[in-house]
Amino acid sequence: MGSIYVITGGTDGIGGALARAYLKRGHEVVVIGRDQAKAPEGAHFVRADLSLVGETRAAIAELRSRYPKIDALVLCARHLQSERRVTAEGFEHNFALYYLSRFLLSYELADLLHAADDPVILNVAGPGPNPERVRWDDLGLESGYDGIAAMFQGGLLNDLLGEGFALNRPSEKIRYVLVNPGTVNTSFSGSYDEGVARQIEAIRASATPVDVAIQPLMALLDAPPASPLSVFIQGTPHTPAPDPGAARRLDTLTRKLLGMPVLRGVSAMNLRELLDSPVFGVIGTVQPGGEPHQSVVWVKRDGDDVLFMIAEGSRKERNLRRDPRINVLVTPADAPHTYASIQGTATMSREGTHALREELTMKYIGTSYAEHIRRTPEADHSHATVTTVRVTPERITGRL
Ligand SMILES: NC(=O)c1ccc[n+]([C@@H]2O[C@H](COP(=O)([O-])OP(=O)(O)OC[C@H]3O[C@@H](n4cnc5c(N)ncnc54)[C@H](OP(=O)(O)O)[C@@H]3O)[C@@H](O)[C@H]2O)c1
Repeated sequence: MGSIYVITGGTDGIGGALARAYLKRGHEVVVIGRDQAKAPEGAHFVRADLSLVGETRAAIAELRSRYPKIDALVLCARHLQSERRVTAEGFEHNFALYYLSRFLLSYELADLLHAADDPVILNVAGPGPNPERVRWDDLGLESGYDGIAAMFQGGLLNDLLGEGFALNRPSEKIRYVLVNPGTVNTSFSGSYDEGVARQIEAIRASATPVDVAIQPLMALLDAPPASPLSVFIQGTPHTPAPDPGAARRLDTLTRKLLGMPVLRGVSAMNLRELLDSPVFGVIGTVQPGGEPHQSVVWVKRDGDDVLFMIAEGSRKERNLRRDPRINVLVTPADAPHTYASIQGTATMSREGTHALREELTMKYIGTSYAEHIRRTPEADHSHATVTTVRVTPERITGRL
């Protein structure tokens, strides 16, 4: 299978030029955008208004259902607005489009990127990390909004997204490249007032033609730098002063806004692989007096949720009905000094429990449940009423 390029903002400007260039080379190009009529001929189109988290997530789901891998994710969508606008989901438009969509696409497509040989994320924004200029107390720029300042802050947030991605390393294979392309003669998608329109026209007059500006970007896509994170300004490597504190602060804040678990020291990809293997889970629940209670269970994952079964009336089941807080600890048998500790909330359901028991017996024992209890009668819990527990992670820490 040839290389697959997924490009946001691929209907115009730099993204559009990159899409055409890779189509010309015979690659598969997927453009995510609002207007199919503007997509380059030959590109696959995924419709999404990326200022909406719901539509961004739907686009991610569509990509996941269509493609087994992604070789390059190119992030170019932006829309300059002179007037502050809030999306139907309650986020300031620029913050949602320019930053939140890039965060979601970067992390939630990481496993498809991981499946490629030499995966890269090219985040085309405005690098030059300067996190002290982030308006931490007003990320939605409620006071003193200015369209250009909003775009500038979006650039800073994307710098920290790149740094956070390299710290979180959802996959060791993916290289994150932050690029400031310099001033380029593009469509400058936006809704701006006359003053800004005049400024943009003046900028355009001396800006680099888009087909020239994409050359250094193509060089980066064709041979991504070895480092997990690299920064380029107009084709020249740049070494920003790292600020892991600011990157983590933004990461935690963003995950809370998007309802995603916080990860520290654990690669999401490694954790998925571990949970897909027959690893035992040590679950910790809270006793009525507040003491910890632990036991060992078979586990599987559904997306990033962890599933296991328990007998109704058992100590852990009663604990979870009273207090759904739970911890699941997993350690690879061949690397016991590494681990992931998954903290979350449990929900319980009797639905699908028998199918889950079959699936887990096959995963851990390699036979059907009926065969397993025929061979090992003491493991027969077929008369107990069992419940499926689903753990939705909130915080994952460890070394994995
Ligand atoms: N051009 C420059 O001088 C310059 C300088 C520094 C950094 N950059 C960065 O380079 C990147 C690309 O810039 P550009 O100048 O090539 O962009 P552009 O010509 O303004 O094009 C922006 C793209 O984003 C898409 N878009 C806008 N709103 C969207 C939405 N709600 N959902 C989905 N897609 C949406 C547009 O689609 P539609 O076709 O639907 O409008 C268009 O394809 C940007 O991140 C920009 O910040 C550019």
